[in-house]
Amino acid sequence: MTAKIIDGKQIAADMRAKLRADVAALAKKGVVPGLGVILVGDDPASKSYVTAKQKACEEIGIYSDDNRLSASISQKELMSHINRLNKDPRIHGILTQLPLPDTIDELEVLMAIDPAKDVDGFHPINVGKMVTGQKAFLPCTPHGVVQLLIKSGVKIEGADVVIVGRSNIVGKPLANILIQKSPLGNATVTVCHTRTRNLAEHTKRADIVIAAAGCPNTITADMIKDGAVVIDVGVNRVEDSTKKAGYRLVGDVDFENVKEKASLITPVPGGVGPMTITMLLYNAVESAKHAAGLLK
Ligand code: GUN
Repeated sequence: MTAKIIDGKQIAADMRAKLRADVAALAKKGVVPGLGVILVGDDPASKSYVTAKQKACEEIGIYSDDNRLSASISQKELMSHINRLNKDPRIHGILTQLPLPDTIDELEVLMAIDPAKDVDGFHPINVGKMVTGQKAFLPCTPHGVVQLLIKSGVKIEGADVVIVGRSNIVGKPLANILIQKSPLGNATVTVCHTRTRNLAEHTKRADIVIAAAGCPNTITADMIKDGAVVIDVGVNRVEDSTKKAGYRLVGDVDFENVKEKASLITPVPGGVGPMTITMLLYNAVESAKHAAGLLK
């Protein structure tokens, strides 16, 4: 079987067109969604993610407040930026790009963000709401993965899903969303990680394999069953002297071989990445609607 490629770019473009219309309707009511963006340091990958997020905001009419801060910033100074954005009524969402430098207490920063502006869904209050099935901002990458599955016609209810990776940003929240008694969930979920004894034993019986390990070739063709759906969350830079940048991006999945066995597969780039940004835009627009009293 040769897999159908899930076109994350197209699915994201369709969702963004709808969001653009929502933003235009809000503008008529005098509401402009605003996103405060904080980037600390100059990690090239983080810089390129943040630039892509701001460009996407601009394209749909979300105002963005750009804060590019030195890696040597103190905890106190960083907290003052968060507090300013918390208080600013033009700002409906605050995004602090992770990871933060080792000198910064990341949890303290995430906990300082007003939960009502926590469009990343990383504040423990929002994490707790998500786990207990209450309405909350859902973290963008996991929510993007679930939307990709739904919009590709994959039945999540009852599916055996194996997630490889247990990060706070992807693996853990994704497992939580997929086990909820909700249209986004009702799956049977296994979370595998670096201490899992026999990874292939788990992945081979999965209807849906989601790779979020951060390591190329974590999932090879012999590790999946025929017709499985394979979602690749990995974004890894590998040296490539034939490229102008000197590197190319690959996921966690051996795409060329796995696509001959799967029924559906996401590419890297052009799969999950555009959906992460789209769900951030979605959360920012929802937050602005909520602040304007247009949602319950
Ligand atoms: N770093 C990697 N993924 C994310 C994300 O979704 N949000 C933020 N803020 N930082 C990240």
